[in-house]
Amino acid sequence: MAELTVETSDKPIGVFDSGLGGLTCVMELMQLMPNENIVYFGDTARIPYGTRSKETITEYANQDIGFIKKHDVKMIIAACGTVSSVVGGVKDPAGEVPFTGVVIPAVQTACAAARNGRIGVIGTAATIRSGAYGRAIRAIRSDAVVLGNSCPLFVPMVESGITDKNDPVVKSMVERYLSPIRNENVDVLILGCTHYPLLRDAIADFMGEDVTLISSGAAAAKYAMNLLAGKNLLSSRKEKGSITYYTSDSAELFAQNAQSFIGRSFTGEVRKVTIDELCS
Ligand code: DGL
Repeated sequence: MAELTVETSDKPIGVFDSGLGGLTCVMELMQLMPNENIVYFGDTARIPYGTRSKETITEYANQDIGFIKKHDVKMIIAACGTVSSVVGGVKDPAGEVPFTGVVIPAVQTACAAARNGRIGVIGTAATIRSGAYGRAIRAIRSDAVVLGNSCPLFVPMVESGITDKNDPVVKSMVERYLSPIRNENVDVLILGCTHYPLLRDAIADFMGEDVTLISSGAAAAKYAMNLLAGKNLLSSRKEKGSITYYTSDSAELFAQNAQSFIGRSFTGEVRKVTIDELCS
């Protein structure tokens, strides 16, 4: 009698972002799939991506994907709202490795949660300019009203640790960027940039408890789990998985700044990659 075999894969999941924001996706991956190994790349030497042109973002995204692929990953997650929005339906360029960005997962989650069909989206300037979230929402719910606004100072604030909801700078920027959306009576707000969950408390206070906030990174992690499960690629590992972090700038700074993203002291191993290595 043929033995019943269950396909699994112990290869790592590859995750990248322009900086540390993708760690909001990694945190969720660790919760959902604690036994998976993860390779993370944060392009901290070239952040922000959200102020750059489509050509530059595409070039950086292809280099990031090329680097992640060198680690023999079973799936790639572009945990960056800017890359996911600007480079269209971003794919593994060679089409070999399962791939997701954050737009489709966040939009599916938002559409399922929306009661009145009025959905807010915040993101970087490049993300909002691309219109990608709006297109993806209307593909699922053609009658939806989408209210988008870019929040250019949120990423530098988060990367500098300015996130406390009582900080006057935080309060004033949240009010400035979110007033046009709050005034439109949305009941769901997509945090379309993976850095924004660090401002969640301030955003939640301002938007009020009736508005559901969707973390694009967390939505992408759930989507990835379902995709891997559907392809029988979840790990069969019994012990806890490991994470290797790569950064294009200082490893010390990465470890120091990562603390606020993961909400506790950072213990992982961080390796520095030069831009030359990235481009090779
Ligand atoms: N985490 C990136 C995003 O989700 C940050 C954007 C940037 O690099 O400007 O869009």
